[in-house]
Amino acid sequence: MTRQKEPVRKEGNPPAHVAFVMDGNGRWATSRGLPRLAGHREGIANVEKIAIALKKRGVRYMTIYMFSTENWKRPKEEVDGIFDLLVEWFRDTVPCLMAQGVSIRHYGKPDRLPSGLAEALHEAAATSRGDDFVLGLAIDYGGRAEIVDAIRSVVSASHGGEHIDESAIADALYTSGVPDPDLIVRPGGELRLSNYMLWQAAYAELYFIPVLWPDFDELELDRALKAFDERHRRFGGL
Ligand code: FPP
Repeated sequence: MTRQKEPVRKEGNPPAHVAFVMDGNGRWATSRGLPRLAGHREGIANVEKIAIALKKRGVRYMTIYMFSTENWKRPKEEVDGIFDLLVEWFRDTVPCLMAQGVSIRHYGKPDRLPSGLAEALHEAAATSRGDDFVLGLAIDYGGRAEIVDAIRSVVSASHGGEHIDESAIADALYTSGVPDPDLIVRPGGELRLSNYMLWQAAYAELYFIPVLWPDFDELELDRALKAFDERHRRFGGL
């Protein structure tokens, strides 16, 4: 079984893993008199820029929350439009990202996604090589659903439950083998995790800013990394 890696950041180094919540696309569009989907289009285009910027700064893992298990409650037209944009992005942008050494992983369950999107996710993950830079896509992802799935899987593999411990659960999460995020960034002004990486966030530094995701650029990224660098992480010690 793959072991969950401990956080690997040392003082003065970039974080190993930065996780983002893609929030504010809709508001970015409506404030400009545009349909919400125009904001989602701008938002998804920003993923490549931030991924490449992080890679250049020595970060190894980026995860982005793109669609939650609760986002199905949004109007069908918006949900369908988001999935269409994702399919386009897999066709037009993901091959360029992969050519630049980015590996793709999907965190979430593919079952409810349109088949074209599920196939694109599967294909990108299956053809990704190496872990120089891992871009994790949380799509139809929910932290609670992930923990339930992990518990089901460890219970069915265990005899009487005596081998169930934190490491067994971590190994059964969608993020198995990926270090926990050191830093979780939520643009868009909300001060909550909204069911994101509930297990993995145990010791993550949290960074909330009002800037909307489509406006989150390299300058904002450097501000977030600087804020992270100034935090003192104790992991329960002194
Ligand atoms: C969490 O807040 C935010 C997310 C799960 C990201 C949602 C982003 C989208 C649906 C747009 C993605 C677009 C593309 C093209 C991939 P929340 O708003 O779900 O939860 P909250 O109600 O608690 O704020």
